[in-house]
Parts: sequence; structure tokens; C-alpha cells
Amino acid sequence: MNVVRVEASRAYEVKIGRGLLETIGGEAAKITGGQALVVSDETVAPLYLAKAVGSLRQAGLTVSSVSVPAGEASKSPEYYVNLLNILAAKRLTRSDAVIALGGGVVGDLAGFAAATYLRGIPVIQIPTTLLAMVDSSVGGKTAIDLPAGKNLVGAFHQPSLVLCDPDVLTTLPEDVFRDGCAEVIKTAVLFDRDLFDHLRADGTDFDREEVISRCVAHKRDVVARDEFDTGERQLLNLGHTVGHAVEACSHFTVSHGKAVAIGTAIMARAFSADADEIVSVLRAFGLPTETEFTPDELANAALADKKRSGDTLALVVPERIGKPRIAKIPVGELPTVIKAGF
Ligand code: NAD
Ligand code: GLY
Repeated sequence: MNVVRVEASRAYEVKIGRGLLETIGGEAAKITGGQALVVSDETVAPLYLAKAVGSLRQAGLTVSSVSVPAGEASKSPEYYVNLLNILAAKRLTRSDAVIALGGGVVGDLAGFAAATYLRGIPVIQIPTTLLAMVDSSVGGKTAIDLPAGKNLVGAFHQPSLVLCDPDVLTTLPEDVFRDGCAEVIKTAVLFDRDLFDHLRADGTDFDREEVISRCVAHKRDVVARDEFDTGERQLLNLGHTVGHAVEACSHFTVSHGKAVAIGTAIMARAFSADADEIVSVLRAFGLPTETEFTPDELANAALADKKRSGDTLALVVPERIGKPRIAKIPVGELPTVIKAGF
């Protein structure tokens, strides 16, 4: 097992190791002596909820659970309010805990409910997708979507503990696993030439525990320096400006991971001396690096994104593998940049 300690407004551990799901009871009992509400989704719950609940009950906790439908549509105001009502009906207090058992959707939804119910109660994240293990469960961003866009309502609320059990990845559909690989490759391109070389050599057979731990450690370093996303943390958005545009243009039929892969490839071809290597590793992982949408369509969609501030746009430029920088460009230059990366 590896342990990564995150020093943010709340300090906590991210534990990464096979079989950790079964230890959730003892771990949660160190955080709450009372109640736990486990939030999951309708795909993950039949696979892993009984194991989690069994372990929690064995540790003496009073446990209830709720499952939302699998998929992004559950990150909605309706499911959020429903969760708050359940927390209130069960009379959870600030000494109790929410446990998010699922991918990034469950983590963001349950995390936001925990962030806001009683002005904040503890949340434990048990991520069950690769993306959630290497990215969304760590760092405290929680959110729900509005009809006007994704993640428009949210809060920073650091978890009290994150437990990553790579064994649960065995049931992940291959396509969803590849989406997580896009975030792993993104992390390597940003911060870690050595990890990038390992990924190139090992392909999708990479050592789960080791690679997840390295990605979490990189995210830990960024979050420790810029918890509230005012500067360096924006580096984690490599490929996301164009990626979000691809998602929006496709009416969300292109998944987030694949859209980020396309966005990363476009940024690499536009700016990076290592573009060929980056594109070839993305392809080796079965990820797309081209899109059917035109640069103008993508630029228009990107300019509707909430991360734009005034007349400039912050773009993450992967100059070399392990050497990124943030470039502020006038919004009018975006179509030219995207064309350069086509
Ligand atoms: P997801 O939660 O929708 O999970 C993808 C699919 O995999 C779902 O159908 C789910 O039921 C299924 N699944 C999950 N674990 C499984 C398992 N072990 N076995 C079988 N099936 C399993 O999607 P995701 O890719 O994990 O997360 C995407 C979400 O994360 C988006 O809403 C995105 O906005 C958010 N996100 C948040 C942050 C953050 O910092 N908070 C960062 C990145 C992404
Ligand atoms: N996934 C981006 C962030 O955590 O800031």
C-alpha cells in the first residue's frame, strides 16, 4: 500500500492499495463514531456496496445508503437536493460522514452535498474509476451541473480520507478505463517524463498501484501550492479548453477522457517540441487525437466556457514533456491556435 499525504486546508491521506475497500470500516471509524451515508450509483452499488456496508457495520457504525442512476445526469440540482433531504431525514450531524463510492459523478455529487449540508460535514472518497482515483477524488473540488453548463455550482471541500483500491478497476468497462488513461497521460505530460516513458513501454498493462500513486502525488503537490485554483492548479486543465469544446460540440456523445485526449493532442501539435511522442502514446492507449469539428466550431464552443476571464484565455502549453506553462492569449487568437494544432 502507498500513502500520499495531502496538506491542504484540511490535511488527509490518500491510501492506494489492493483490497483497501474491505478496510473502510476501520478507517471510517477513525473519522466518525456515529453514522455514515454511503452514496453510490446503480452500476457500482451491486458490485461493491455490500462489501463497503458490511465493513462499516462491523466497525460499529450506523450505515445507510443511496444509489443514483449511473452517469453525468445525476450531477443535477434534483439529485443534490434529494441527497440533502436524505441527510436531514437521517439526522446526520457534523460528527457523521458521507462516503462516496463511485466514479467522479458520485464523488462530485456526494462531495458537494457534504460540503453544504450543515455548512460542511466530513466526506470520505472511495473512487472506483481510474479517472476518479488519479484526479477527481483528490483536491476537494465538488460540483453539480446546471442546464447552462457542467460544474457551474460547487465548492472546495477537501475529503477526510481517500481510499483507492485498484482491484475495483477490474470491473470497469474498457472504454471507461481508457478515459482515465487520458488523465494519467495528461499528468505524465505535465509533470513526469519518467512516468511518460513507463506508460510508453507498458501500455495499458501499467502497474496500477504505482501509477495511481504517482499521479496522486503530482496532484497533491499542485493542490498544496494552489488549493483554490488561482494559478498553478490551472495546469491540470491541459487539453481541457479544447476538450470541453469537443464535448459540447458532440452534445456530450464524446466522453470527457476522449475529449481531453483530443485537446491534449491539439495543444501538443500547436506548441510542443515533443508533440509526436505525446500523440503516439495517446494513440497507443486507443485514445483519439483528431476531431471532426472545425477549429472555428471548437473555438466558439470554448469561448462559451466559464473559465474564460474577460478578453483573455488561459491555455496550458506543454512545451516539453514535464515542462508546461500557462499562456494567457487574447480570445481572438484561439481559432489560430487550434488550427495550428490540427
Ligand atoms: P462516472 O462517475 O460517470 O463513471 C463512469 C461509468 O463507470 C459509470 O457508468 C459508472 O457507473 C461506472 N463505474 C464506475 N466505477 C465502476 C467500476 N469499478 N466497475 C464498473 N463500472 C464502474 O465518470 P468518471 O469518469 O469517473 O468521472 C467523470 C466526472 O468526474 C465528471 O462529472 C467530471 O466533471 C468529474 N471530474 C471532477 C473532477 C474534480 O476535480 N472534482 C476532476 C475530473 C473530473
Ligand atoms: N481536475 C482539475 C482540478 O482538480 O483542479
